[in-house]
Amino acid sequence: MSGCTSQHIVLVGMMGAGKSSVGRVLAKRLDRTLFDSDEMVEARTGRTVREIWAAEGEPAFRSLETEVLRDAVSAGEPSVIAAAGGVVLSDENRAVLKRDDAHVVWLLADVELLLERVKAGMHRPLLDDDPEGVLRQMYEDRNELYQDVADAIVSVDHRSVHDVAGAVLRCAG
Ligand code: S3P
Repeated sequence: MSGCTSQHIVLVGMMGAGKSSVGRVLAKRLDRTLFDSDEMVEARTGRTVREIWAAEGEPAFRSLETEVLRDAVSAGEPSVIAAAGGVVLSDENRAVLKRDDAHVVWLLADVELLLERVKAGMHRPLLDDDPEGVLRQMYEDRNELYQDVADAIVSVDHRSVHDVAGAVLRCAG
């Protein structure tokens, strides 16, 4: 039996690392509920991430992010949680991620791959002005935070979504 059958699998990592896509595959394979934190925030507020950011600013978005993370890990059944990239920024969230019932997997990607991928996303207001500069800085600033919460690290470079999902399951075993 896998070591994490009774734990939530929580995917963390930078914007563009593939947390939502990998999360969808994992949830299907394991027949678990997928909680995608950005989608939860949007469903709860009836607004997009970008709208919340524009109307109320980043702190309001961050408190919603904390709220949905708490709710996701409180789900009765083990789930798959695709946590948005900034979830590791707060002490409070990092403490939640360190709970015994959460198996946290850091999807690690080369910054060049992230830069290619983030061009597609509309829900990333932090990257509006200088996507490359901001993403590179974030990469520097956040890596130690992902490291701090990770129970396992899976590299996504040169791998399909299905391969990454398989690697997450292997290292969860
Ligand atoms: C953010 C990541 C985004 C979204 C918001 C802020 C971040 O989610 O929550 O734009 O600070 O890293 P993804 O990681 O799903 O892109």
